[in-house]
Amino acid sequence: MFKFTVGLFFAVLATSTCRKDRCLEGGTHKPRPSPEPDMHECTLYSKSSCCYANFTEQLAHSPVTHVNNTYWNRCGNLSKSCEDYMKKIECFYRCSPHAIHWINPNYTAAIDLVPLCQNFCDDWYEACKNDSTCIRSWMTDWEWDENGENHCKSECIPYNQMYANGTDMCESMWGNSFKVSDSSCLCLQMNEKDAVAIKYLISESSEESSSVSSSEERACRRKLQRTALQKEEEGVEIEVFEIL
Ligand SMILES: *[C@@H]1O[C@H](CO)[C@@H](O)[C@H](O)[C@H]1NC(C)=O
Ligand SMILES: *[C@@H]1O[C@H](CO)[C@@H](O)[C@H](O)[C@H]1NC(C)=O
Ligand SMILES: *[C@@H]1O[C@H](CO)[C@@H](O)[C@H](O)[C@H]1NC(C)=O
Ligand SMILES: *[C@@H]1O[C@H](CO)[C@@H](O)[C@H](O)[C@H]1NC(C)=O
Ligand SMILES: *[C@@H]1O[C@H](CO)[C@@H](O)[C@H](O)[C@H]1NC(C)=O
Ligand SMILES: *[C@@H]1O[C@H](CO)[C@@H](O)[C@H](O)[C@H]1NC(C)=O
Repeated sequence: MFKFTVGLFFAVLATSTCRKDRCLEGGTHKPRPSPEPDMHECTLYSKSSCCYANFTEQLAHSPVTHVNNTYWNRCGNLSKSCEDYMKKIECFYRCSPHAIHWINPNYTAAIDLVPLCQNFCDDWYEACKNDSTCIRSWMTDWEWDENGENHCKSECIPYNQMYANGTDMCESMWGNSFKVSDSSCLCLQMNEKDAVAIKYLISESSEESSSVSSSEERACRRKLQRTALQKEEEGVEIEVFEIL
């Protein structure tokens, strides 16, 4: 009897470990998510993080000049508003315990088609409108030197000349990593509201069919409204805890 219980316990543990408790396989990722109470940035993920707290030190001083060997300031320091969005993306990729759900099967350090909210991309585009960039894609357009540092191949131009709009920006800056969702609820915007969206996005039923059903869309909207009503931070924290 005891043996059976132990066996069952390990079977359950194994299933949940391989399903959820993994991280992407990039150079800074932990093998599996765990709490990081001392994070300097990316605190959205501190209860279950795929990055070590020390990684986020690099993001804690504005302007952020570089993250590991990748320089952010090749076209001058980013404005605070634009930098904040870059950080949100960096934090998601490096630290989110949910990024694994969108792992690129061909390249396990990368994500594929993570659904972003339209308003998130539009706000991001607006936030960077006074900033410049020399690349359309961070994945393919840099020139890398022998130290593994990135350099511009083309001249710096304003964001709004490089990208037509927020959608164009979100869907080209990181290759195929992100797409803009048709839904305004079942999408990520890199804040506490993601807890609601993720609950539906990674549910069994959405894994079976590639498109999310309209009943899930409605359920998501109701849930988001209810969460918004519970104004205290605590309400949101319970949501976050529930999905982990
Ligand atoms: C990134 O930099 C950290 C130190 O800041 C280092 O420990 C880590 O190995 C680096 N990772 C990669 C992929 O270069
Ligand atoms: C960051 O912390 C982790 C775990 O505490 C450690 O293994 C790693 O060496 C640290 N990296 C740096 C650059 O301090
Ligand atoms: C960019 O920021 C760094 C660090 O704060 C600062 O030393 C430098 O002067 C800034 N560069 C420009 C062009 O403002
Ligand atoms: C993975 O590679 C296959 C074969 O080259 C390709 O058909 C598929 O689209 C790729 N998937 C992703 C997510 O890049
Ligand atoms: C862009 O620059 C203009 C004019 O200097 C300023 O009014 C505006 O607030 C800036 N926008 C952002 C997002 O930084
Ligand atoms: C955004 O730009 C793309 C590419 O130019 C274009 O196809 C699309 O219609 C634009 N979307 C909006 C909402 O303006």
